[in-house]
Amino acid sequence: MTSVLVVYMTRGGHTARIARCLCEGVEAAGGQATALDVRDAEKTGIDWARHDVVVVGAPVLYGNYDKSVMRFIERHKDALAARPNAFFNVSVVARTPEKATVAGNRYMQKFLELSPWKPQELKVIAGKVDYPSWPWWDRIMIRLIMKMTHGPTDPKAVIDYTDWDDVRAWGRHLPELARVTAPTA
Ligand SMILES: Cc1cc2nc3c(=O)[nH]c(=O)nc-3n(C[C@H](O)[C@H](O)[C@H](O)COP(=O)(O)O)c2cc1C
Repeated sequence: MTSVLVVYMTRGGHTARIARCLCEGVEAAGGQATALDVRDAEKTGIDWARHDVVVVGAPVLYGNYDKSVMRFIERHKDALAARPNAFFNVSVVARTPEKATVAGNRYMQKFLELSPWKPQELKVIAGKVDYPSWPWWDRIMIRLIMKMTHGPTDPKAVIDYTDWDDVRAWGRHLPELARVTAPTA
């Protein structure tokens, strides 16, 4: 049975839900899946030999990726590259079709520039606006960003842009990565 490890970073919980949904997809395809918060991964360590495919996922926060994600990638780039692998990002700009592609999502392009690990497969996923749950300073800042990008600015807005069927479908596809040739480190 193909084992897929999904290591994720989350600030508000949405990327964690996406990681769990990917795992459901993997399991629906007959694979075995583990979702692991990057902070727990660093604490407990990872038995890399147990996993056939590894996926890393992170939300875009103020145009960047949390340090914990980039540190994880820097530390484990060889282990990541030694087996079939993928990366996904989660952002609100990906709510529009043109920014939901790898080429059209500037945060994915930024990731490719910054990351010493070049993932075999990339996925852009639209995230969630949740003003009521965000601290007031984040609310102000993100409303400003949204104003500039013609997104929602109502401070009461809770909008889930994630296409959950598409996430589950990508999860179902992930075990297939193990059937293609593993990349060389
Ligand atoms: C502090 C903060 C900053 C954000 N910055 C951006 C951004 O620069 N661009 C964007 O498209 N989305 C941005 N978002 C939206 C997040 O990417 C989106 O809400 C995502 O679903 C958050 O995932 P999480 O709940 O796993 O942290 C931001 C959200 C927060 C809370």
